[in-house]
Amino acid sequence: MHSKVTKVLYICFTVIPLVAAYFIKSRYKRLKAELEEEKNDYYYQNIFIHSKFECREHILQATSCGEECSLNHLLTLVHFIASAKESISLCVLTLQLLNILKELTKAHERGIKVRIILDKEMIAVDNLRLQRLRKSGIQVKTQKSDNSYLHHKFCLIDEKNKNSAKMFCGSLNLTLQGIVRNYEHVTLTNDYDMIQSFSEEFEKLWADFD
Ligand SMILES: *[C@@H]1O[C@H](CO)[C@@H](O)[C@H](O)[C@H]1NC(C)=O
Ligand SMILES: [Zn+2]
Repeated sequence: MHSKVTKVLYICFTVIPLVAAYFIKSRYKRLKAELEEEKNDYYYQNIFIHSKFECREHILQATSCGEECSLNHLLTLVHFIASAKESISLCVLTLQLLNILKELTKAHERGIKVRIILDKEMIAVDNLRLQRLRKSGIQVKTQKSDNSYLHHKFCLIDEKNKNSAKMFCGSLNLTLQGIVRNYEHVTLTNDYDMIQSFSEEFEKLWADFD
């Protein structure tokens, strides 16, 4: 009798926890592997822009001086925007690069939902461009307040579609000056969680702004 109780206690306190630990560990390992596998589907690409004023001409003439040419960096962003299948949500301080403006208009014309948020003061300086965008039917909003900058620089593409969602963000002003004269970075990614977080912020601003 006594030895039976000892056996049961022994099983309860050593064998069962060992077996349970084994199963919990293997389950944890499997989950971790799954998570890593999922993560591996995501990419990041960093573009670093170095001050190369001579590239101003390369952009204007559409002739590249090599891989590091500002024209190549610009075209990377243009192709990114051109790949949109459903929506483009752009939120930037200023938007002057003609290639990008053209690509946004083209996207709008082929039925992509294009929404743009720009800084109020910058757009006041550049009112003609705003009018042209709005005239083409693209919705453009700015913050209500005059004494704050809309200093964001991000662009979401197909943010509601897990398969094609992508975004870029970084320090770059979408101006000729920004892309040829400054030192800047832009990060391109399809990390869905990050895109969702930016998307929530975009929707908040869109609801608040005029
Ligand atoms: C970004 O663009 C705005 C508007 O053109 C300009 O006022 C600002 O100085 C630019 N920033 C840089 C770092 O070039
Ligand atoms: Zn160049």
